[in-house]
Amino acid sequence: MNDRPRLTVIGTGYLGATHAICMAVMGYDVLGVDVDAEKVARLNSGEVPFFEPGLPELLTKALETGRLRFTTSYREAGEFGDVHFICVGTPQRRGSEAADLTYVDASVTALAAHLHRRALVVGKSTVPVGTAARLAELLRTTAPAGDRVELAWNPEFLREGFAVDDTMKPDRMVFGVTSAWSEERLRAAFAPVLAQGVPVKVTDLQTAELVKVAANSFLATKISYINAMAEICEATGADVHDLAEALAYDERIGGKFLRPGLGFGGGCLPKDIRAFAHRAEELGVGQAVGFLREIDGINRRRRARTVELVVELCGGDVAGKKVAALGAAFKPNSDDIRDAPALDVASKLASLGADVHVFDPAAMDNARKAHPELSYGTGALDVARDADVVVLLTEWTEFREIAPGAMAEVVAARRIFDGRHALDSAAWRAAGWEYKALGRP
Ligand code: UGA
Repeated sequence: MNDRPRLTVIGTGYLGATHAICMAVMGYDVLGVDVDAEKVARLNSGEVPFFEPGLPELLTKALETGRLRFTTSYREAGEFGDVHFICVGTPQRRGSEAADLTYVDASVTALAAHLHRRALVVGKSTVPVGTAARLAELLRTTAPAGDRVELAWNPEFLREGFAVDDTMKPDRMVFGVTSAWSEERLRAAFAPVLAQGVPVKVTDLQTAELVKVAANSFLATKISYINAMAEICEATGADVHDLAEALAYDERIGGKFLRPGLGFGGGCLPKDIRAFAHRAEELGVGQAVGFLREIDGINRRRRARTVELVVELCGGDVAGKKVAALGAAFKPNSDDIRDAPALDVASKLASLGADVHVFDPAAMDNARKAHPELSYGTGALDVARDADVVVLLTEWTEFREIAPGAMAEVVAARRIFDGRHALDSAAWRAAGWEYKALGRP
């Protein structure tokens, strides 16, 4: 156990908290660092500040071992850690498509001042290519230990809702390094993960940075591809649901991330493709990924089209109509509402005069804060009471399992819009519902 480096994790959001907790469970001594004292206090008391299945139990377990604690002190971090993971957010910059690197720069600068001995700093945040080289120079020139502080890049591919599994047993690891020592330190920092046979790709810094945005761009492209086909289906009477299933049998295409519907949201895919396109333009190769703007455009059009179709379903006008909105989170098993298609649609319907009542199994608090103009209920049947139309926006299992007959008893009119192709259209139609979905006749 003694050959294991001591780890710090700077930034305790979805990524950092999960990483810190999982590494402690795997046997490392871990210090989590965040500038938010309230978040630090909650984590130290055993409370995960966001919804992530399985994580609260692991936090309890990790705290019990005594191997994990959280602090606001960078000085403590500098003294404690051999390997420091940077896990802060890189949101979209206000008024621009570029990534906002404020938190990355601030955390590396703050940490550097306290690095008095040989250490490895490892970036995990999603950043524009070229950031790592700049940060390496920042560390070299400002850390008291100077050249003895190295930087590596280790992009994170975890999905919200599967964060624990993705961290404990990722499908691959990418180590962007500039020396054999950095690679050795990373291998030591991930020994239990690598012992499971997880493949490692060792690259330079810029390739490691690119792997992440290239992966998210590919995923976004796949989703928008099938949603573009949905637009064609709508113009021709074809069924995109059947089309997607037929395409998926070709192993080269595959069915994953080929689910048509309301499209992608969240704190990653939308801002990552925009930041990537922006960065490529800065580098003079904007044309190479110019298609990402179209991917974004297709994705936005799905939201607008959903609003149009709900209005149509209500006979051309939603003003004064009661809408039951099922879902607020950007995807199921998450309370994350960043760039959530569901709330985008709900608030657009409200702006057209509809009386929108929202229910989500996990994201209610976040939704209420962001959209106080909407009404909120206590369950799917509760918001559906006397509704003129039911709109399924996030495909939580509990919504998939709603019995069409039970919901029919509470609504004012049996109209349902399935924004996620989550329901059995035949069963709903058989129960007397008018069923509509994107890209389906
Ligand atoms: C995404 C990537 O999947 C992770 O690999 C990556 O690590 C992460 O971003 C990140 O950059 O940190 P996440 O944002 O948790 O993960 O969500 P996804 O599961 O990718 O879903 C994104 C959106 O696409 C959701 O709104 C989902 O509803 C939508 N989606 C997904 C579809 O509309 N169709 C599909 O077939 C799949």
